[in-house]
Amino acid sequence: MPEITGRTRVFAILADPIAQVKTPQGLNRIMAERGVDGVMVPLHVAAADLATVLAGLRAVRSFGGAIVTVPHKTAIVPLLDAVSDAARLVGAVNAVRREPDGRLVGEILDGAGFVAGLRAAGHDPRGRSAYLAGAGGAANAIAFALAEAGVARLTVHNRTAARVEDLFARLRRLVPGLLLASGSPDPAGHDLVVNATSLGLRPEDPLPLDAARLEPGQLVAEIIMQPAETALLEHAAARGCRIHPGLPMLEGQLALMADFLRMRP
Ligand code: ATR
Repeated sequence: MPEITGRTRVFAILADPIAQVKTPQGLNRIMAERGVDGVMVPLHVAAADLATVLAGLRAVRSFGGAIVTVPHKTAIVPLLDAVSDAARLVGAVNAVRREPDGRLVGEILDGAGFVAGLRAAGHDPRGRSAYLAGAGGAANAIAFALAEAGVARLTVHNRTAARVEDLFARLRRLVPGLLLASGSPDPAGHDLVVNATSLGLRPEDPLPLDAARLEPGQLVAEIIMQPAETALLEHAAARGCRIHPGLPMLEGQLALMADFLRMRP
């Protein structure tokens, strides 16, 4: 870690629980590589105290911004002075920048991080047909990022169909011409297949989609980072698909976070 001086800008991660977070290591490494005089520290903040903490951070002139995670991602939106279109549509924020005048500006980088990870692995979603399993918070962020990245067609399948209709209503506002379909568990006929449900976190989970219908050559992506090799990815590899595990999303996102928080010398 570089020496901390009176000029060091301070960044934070707000979470509860906090012990498991990995972002400080990642962003402190990036700041060191970039020669930035800054440090990211963990702030253990309970949900009930979020508004008080933000009011304080607004007044801290050496505060550069924060990464925000569970349980604050949705609750923080109405507490900020401005949020991006994507954050408003998704209804969640995971990065907050403090402007020189004290305004706090929010952005959601989950989906953009996923797309950056895909691109870094040589898979540009532009013009492709995508199948997305899930319609929760993570799936919303990925759906918006895929739409912004120029997918031609997006099929979404979720256990609770009403959440898909709700997502489509908001997506149509962002990208009016995008072809949207509510899907079945069958992912055949798409270039890119993404699991954005929580199924796969536990070994006893059922598969999020009908893996017997996966086709050779499809790219099957997972957002689950732990375990690195989910049952879905094992099935996909056995069926001749290309696989994209969850970890590149984190790497892709770190660089976007550093840029959004203006971590530069
Ligand atoms: P996150 O923020 O991680 O996306 P979430 O908003 O709770 O968490 O969304 C979890 C996703 O996993 C949802 O798509 C959820 O489906 P529902 O909308 O029907 O709840 C999906 N999911 C979780 N458990 C599931 C299960 N047992 N079977 C099918 N889908 C499941």
